[in-house]
Amino acid sequence: MPTVDNPTEKTLAELGVESADKVALLFAEVRSRFDRQLSGPSDQTNWEVLKQSWTGRKSGILTLIGDNWLKPASSALKRAVGQELNKLKAHIESQLESQRSAIESGSESRGAVKDRIDLSLPGVIRPIGTHHLIRTVIQEIEDIFVSIGFSIVEGPEIETPYYNFEALNIPEHHPVRDDMDTFYLDLPEGAPGPLLLRTHTSPVQIHTMEKRQHPVRVIVPGKVYRRDNPDATHSFMFHQIEGLAVDTDITFCDFTGTIEYFVKQFFGESVKTRFRPSYFPFTEPSVEFDVSCIFCGGSGTAASGGTCGKCKGAGWIELFGAGMVDPAVYGFVNYDASKVSGFAFGMGMDRLAMLKYGIDDLQVFFQSDVRFLRQFP
Ligand code: DAH
Repeated sequence: MPTVDNPTEKTLAELGVESADKVALLFAEVRSRFDRQLSGPSDQTNWEVLKQSWTGRKSGILTLIGDNWLKPASSALKRAVGQELNKLKAHIESQLESQRSAIESGSESRGAVKDRIDLSLPGVIRPIGTHHLIRTVIQEIEDIFVSIGFSIVEGPEIETPYYNFEALNIPEHHPVRDDMDTFYLDLPEGAPGPLLLRTHTSPVQIHTMEKRQHPVRVIVPGKVYRRDNPDATHSFMFHQIEGLAVDTDITFCDFTGTIEYFVKQFFGESVKTRFRPSYFPFTEPSVEFDVSCIFCGGSGTAASGGTCGKCKGAGWIELFGAGMVDPAVYGFVNYDASKVSGFAFGMGMDRLAMLKYGIDDLQVFFQSDVRFLRQFP
């Protein structure tokens, strides 16, 4: 499309150029445009572009001038246009040539400088990153469970309500759903749904049992989501690790023994443990598992003599929920509840990391502040 900037796309008649003087003026403008462009940054690539745009055979400016100015010019102007065009062409070609040799000699001398190696310069130190503390803790937990025969599986972060709730024995109007108020996805009209961000890693119990028969011994690390406002102990995204063991002969003793083994490996032999009765729809019986307070050694008294702020003087810290798998859950995955039994647990890994490493604000895990992260190489 012809533009003011590009008079070479119009004919002389269209530009209102009717005399040899005006032709000379017009060429002078074009020439100074070229000179301006030539004086811009010069390197091999720019030079190629410049050359192409002025002397390119198909749509270079010289070709356009030939096609649009010279060919349709009136016989009175043709001679003047032809002469001007030849002068312009000669100017452009000679300027391009001298810039080319300048670029070549410049890059040669730069090359010579580059080849001189200064052995006294210090090397380039590339900082090596570290694992995020959550990653480290996941690894520690995985190592403990893998060493006693568990394997690691993962599951989707986007779930259907069936896996997140129903198959875990949480029917539609069950009150525990209120605690898990969560994010549902906006789906395009007509798409099968609803879908939600999983509120816990427990749905992977169902995926796992759907895929394989007993014996099952798995742990499931992963991200979970809830509509919680961020504070020192809450975040809309956090990490859990689920555990599930199902076989024909698993007892409550296997369950307590496994959990106690894990906790002592993770926090150290000296911690004491206890179970309290609790309620989860997918376990029966259900327990809440506590450890003696890691900060005050279970005494409830801080080193300063006052009440321990971490356990609020109780001497115990609530760690996670667990229990024996509710037979109703086996019904959803076609396991024979009269033959199999098992246990499950779900721990907040961020919480475990905070307790083990003495961190009092959950948010620091998600702020990517290297001053915090570097403390855990
Ligand atoms: N899914 C539960 C939650 O997020 C935690 C939990 C409790 C998982 C008991 C379990 C379990 O597997 O047995 O609150």
